[in-house]
Amino acid sequence: MATVRAATAPVLRTSLRPSSARYCGRIGGGGGATSRMTGVASVRWKSGPYGYTQAKALVFSQYGEPKDALKLHTHSISPNLPSSSVLLRTLAASINPADVNTIQGTYGAKPTFSSLIGTSEPSALPGNEGVFEIASTPPSSSSGLVKGDWVIPAKTGFGTWRTHAVAPLESVIKVEKEGLSPIQVGTVSVNPCSAYRMLRDYATPPLREGDWFIQNGANSGVGRAAIQLGRLWGYRSINVIRARENPEDTKALKDELAALGADRVVTEEEFLAREFRDAVAEWTRGSGGGVRLGLNCVGGKSAQNIAKTLGTSGTMVTYGGMARQPVALPTGLLIFKDLRFVGFWLSRWADGDTTAKARTVNEILDLIRQGKFRDTPVVDVPWNWETEENTLKEAVQGTLEGFRAVLIEAEASYLVHLFNMRSVAMFKELYLTALLACEFMIA
Ligand SMILES: NC(=O)c1ccc[n+]([C@@H]2O[C@H](COP(=O)([O-])OP(=O)(O)OC[C@H]3O[C@@H](n4cnc5c(N)ncnc54)[C@H](OP(=O)(O)O)[C@@H]3O)[C@@H](O)[C@H]2O)c1
Repeated sequence: MATVRAATAPVLRTSLRPSSARYCGRIGGGGGATSRMTGVASVRWKSGPYGYTQAKALVFSQYGEPKDALKLHTHSISPNLPSSSVLLRTLAASINPADVNTIQGTYGAKPTFSSLIGTSEPSALPGNEGVFEIASTPPSSSSGLVKGDWVIPAKTGFGTWRTHAVAPLESVIKVEKEGLSPIQVGTVSVNPCSAYRMLRDYATPPLREGDWFIQNGANSGVGRAAIQLGRLWGYRSINVIRARENPEDTKALKDELAALGADRVVTEEEFLAREFRDAVAEWTRGSGGGVRLGLNCVGGKSAQNIAKTLGTSGTMVTYGGMARQPVALPTGLLIFKDLRFVGFWLSRWADGDTTAKARTVNEILDLIRQGKFRDTPVVDVPWNWETEENTLKEAVQGTLEGFRAVLIEAEASYLVHLFNMRSVAMFKELYLTALLACEFMIA
């Protein structure tokens, strides 16, 4: 969480906060979803003459690596808003892998390039996830939104990496801010929503209290959310993690996930051992159906073993490919065990039904408010108004270190087919899974 610094003028604070696992690769000790901070700075929010708002935005006009493609653009926003729009001030904005892959030109959904904010060349605004405060509304607005309300983007492709935005009313969803921090609201839409939908929508019939699910990458942001939601809904979970550098750290991570509500936590080695299936049979005895749902964000042998662990008619949902290995499945599992293998893409769900997105987001925010859902641990990488363009670009670029990989096209195509995804490019996003969150906070 960013530290807040006293200032004589309104100060816009921005923090970039990648998780350590995403940013640094595998680390000893804590879980993969821990983030870290680098640097701090402050930003003046400037009012221009005649009520104009001075704003900044990270933009790109050509695809490329973030350090090469991103530019920091300064512009003015007129106080005369269109009647169906609102002026937003950014409070927190995540930088997810999908955002970075959009800049690289490898993401399935392509951005719109325009000169709307006065860039010299048509440019796109990256960033899909964030939280904004209503800075002003048109005088005659009957939207129900008032100055100070908090909103999140209704759909992906919003362009959240900017200090201010003029947004059409229908492009935002209001959230009740009471009891919540900008980081909690600004990071709710991707990982917690993914865990929620995968647990609720994919098992056939839907999971009931007492049912078991299994997941790899269990210490990831999605994994931690799944553990917590599963526990709240009465589901029981088997959680696979990678062992840490030493047994004490492995135990500490297991204990941490158990404290979140994990029923069982095993290392990849324990998971792949011969005895594992006997242990699962013992754990799930009497539950009916054995393990009914598997969540896979790793691929390779781990995914295969998830499939082998599922009971008859179980479902495996693949939503990531961290190990950069294809998912190869024994034929017998498909024929004799009647397993189902599906892919999940949050964007497809969220953009297809914004009412459902609002409902899911609000439900999770209620759980956070009630203290029933813990935040993913984060460490900020702050960024403020005086921060050099290069500092920002390098911070974004750095979030991919440790995960950047060149795929063999054939392998990717195979996986795309398996995941029923739109393109090889889309699948690359799943490999390049890194998250950097930035946060703009008014001190
Ligand atoms: N399809 C969608 O709509 C969607 C939505 C959200 C997220 N995702 C995907 O979900 C996955 C998790 O995202 P997140 O943001 O929650 O991740 P995260 O917090 O950064 O955690 C990454 C996880 O991956 C594990 N991992 C990294 N490299 C690995 C490898 N080679 N083999 C096995 N495990 C490895 C890490 O384990 P260690 O701690 O041991 O390194 C950690 O558990 C990503 O693949 C992301 O792209 C997809």
